[in-house]
Amino acid sequence: MESLYYRAINLPDQGTSMAEQKATNVHWHDGDISTEDRGALLGQRGATLWFTGLSGSGKSTVAVALEQALFNRGKLSYRLDGDNVRLGINKNLGFSAEDRTENIRRIGEIAKLFVDSGVMALSSFISPYRDDRDQVRALHDDSGFAFIEVFIDCSLAAAEERDPKGLYKKARAGEIKNFTGIDDPYEEPLKPEIHLHTDKMTLEEEVEIIISYLEKNGFIA
Ligand code: ADX
Repeated sequence: MESLYYRAINLPDQGTSMAEQKATNVHWHDGDISTEDRGALLGQRGATLWFTGLSGSGKSTVAVALEQALFNRGKLSYRLDGDNVRLGINKNLGFSAEDRTENIRRIGEIAKLFVDSGVMALSSFISPYRDDRDQVRALHDDSGFAFIEVFIDCSLAAAEERDPKGLYKKARAGEIKNFTGIDDPYEEPLKPEIHLHTDKMTLEEEVEIIISYLEKNGFIA
C-alpha cells in the first residue's frame, strides 16, 4: 500500500528557500509496522495539538498540565516547546519573519514524526503567522494525520501584566526588537478546533475542555 507519508514528502516545496528539497535520489522507505499499529500498542490515536498564542499567554502551562492529565490516564504525549527547541535543533534561528517560518516548518515536521509514532505531540510556539500554521496543518492533512489547533487566547494587556520572563518590559524599553505583540504581529487563528481564554478560565477547565475534545473525537478512550 502506498504510504500517505511518502506522498506528503513529495509535495512541491512551499516557496521558501529553506523548505526546498535539496537532496536528490532519496526515497521514502516504509516499514512493516503502521501508524495505526503503533497507536493500538499505546491504546490511543496520535495527533498534534498545536498551541498558538502570545508570549505569556499560557501555552506551555496548558501543555504541561495536559501532559500530566494524559499521563494519569495512561496516555503518552510529548511536549515540543518554543524555548526548549530554540536551545537545541533550532538554535541557529532568530526571530525574523523568515526564521520564525523555518522554526515552525521544522517543528511541524518533528510533530508529524511523533504522530506517526502514535504519540500526542503538544507543540507550544507563538507561531504568529497564519500561513505558517496552515502549512503545518496541510502537511498533516496530506499524511492523514490529525492537526488540532488550540488558540491560547489572552489579551495583550493580561500577557504583559504577567510578563513571566520580563520580556515585555524589555521590549517596551526597546531592548528587544521584533517582539510579538509589541513591534511584531500576531495573527489570530480564524477557525481553531479549540479556543481557550486563559485570562478568564481556570487551568483545570482548560485541560478538561481539551481532554473531552480528545475523547469525543476518538483519540483517547
Ligand atoms: S515563534 O514566533 O517562532 O513561534 P517561539 O514560540 O519559537 O516563537 O519562541 C518564542 C519565545 O522566545 C518567547 O516565549 C520568548 O521567551 C522568546 N523570545 C525572544 N525574543 C523574542 C521575540 N522577538 N519575539 C517573541 N518571542 C521572543
